[in-house]
Amino acid sequence: MKILAIETSCDETAVALLECSGSLEAPEFKILGNALISQIEMHKEFGGVVPMLAKREHHKNLPILMGRVLKEAKTEPKDIDYIAVTVGPGLEPALWEGILYAEKLATEWKTPIIPVNHMEGHIYSPFFNTGEKISFPTLALLVSGGHTELVLIKNYEKYEILGKTRDDAVGEAFDKVARLLDLEYPGGPKISKLADIHRNKGLEPTFELPRPMIHSKDFDFSFSGLKTSVLYRLRGQILNDEIKEEMAHAFEDACVEVLINKTEKALEQYAVKTLIIAGGVSANKYLRGELQKLKEKYFDLKIFIPENSLTTDNAVMIGMAGYFKIKNGYKTNKKKLEAKGNLTF
Ligand code: KG4
Ligand code: ZN
Repeated sequence: MKILAIETSCDETAVALLECSGSLEAPEFKILGNALISQIEMHKEFGGVVPMLAKREHHKNLPILMGRVLKEAKTEPKDIDYIAVTVGPGLEPALWEGILYAEKLATEWKTPIIPVNHMEGHIYSPFFNTGEKISFPTLALLVSGGHTELVLIKNYEKYEILGKTRDDAVGEAFDKVARLLDLEYPGGPKISKLADIHRNKGLEPTFELPRPMIHSKDFDFSFSGLKTSVLYRLRGQILNDEIKEEMAHAFEDACVEVLINKTEKALEQYAVKTLIIAGGVSANKYLRGELQKLKEKYFDLKIFIPENSLTTDNAVMIGMAGYFKIKNGYKTNKKKLEAKGNLTF
């Protein structure tokens, strides 16, 4: 089965063509074509993603990427079985571009559409040809620029959100703190690099930032206060490399400790033995390392993290989620799609 996938929920325009085979439990994916244009350079000067600029760029980039993917895949539209497209969550003007483009192709090619939840794409991203199957229940820690969620996956497409952020997403906090440190968007990778430099010097921060909501009984998060604490700490200081490195270290420690603590609590409370970590922030080296340490305590815990190229937004994961949906009985229909910025499970 050939699935063409389109992703435009934020600042990456991405198109991929997958050859999918195998059962729901043992799917196999082959990337026939894959193309992505990141708009990071353009949004950088605004310090974050500007929705209307993202929309304009998606509009311009989609036909270019489509041409590249079909050429790379040496595939004719008539051989494509389904078009999978992200319908939310994300920036609505950006999502609409992908949806309208998918609908245009679907009409021209007479190809059915599968609407995909972006977060479901992230959930499936670690299962790209690992030969591993998802066992249930599984816990997913979804950490991106727009989301911080602990999700209990009870079965295919049966999700329960155990907790989520009450204000900023963790990736958003990385980006905002990066701005305070005079670092470019997206801030996550830059903060992570500076924190590592500080750790590799054998240094510990001389102060500690708060661990918001770490002792709350629920599984919710809050990251905006942390950003405010950074702001107060930086008052009156001249930003030099030492201060940036120390602050990056202290900030990353605080975020990661909260994420690990809540994840561990959920693992215990729901007696879960499989953990998925996905979304842009799952690329964070320190977070990955600390999560792996959970295995020292929970011997039979299996951890799934996407390969690096699939951590940030991409179309491959959207095609994979589309295949899981089809295999799980999704019936395509001719209903008009709608972009849903706040789509949940
Ligand atoms: O999943 P993603 O590509 O887009 C959304 O759906 O939001 O995630 C992007 C977010 C950004 O906030 C970026 O700063 C963060 O992921 N990020 C990181 C790292 N790489 C990307 N955060 C921390 N450490 C990283 N290495
Ligand atoms: Zn994402």
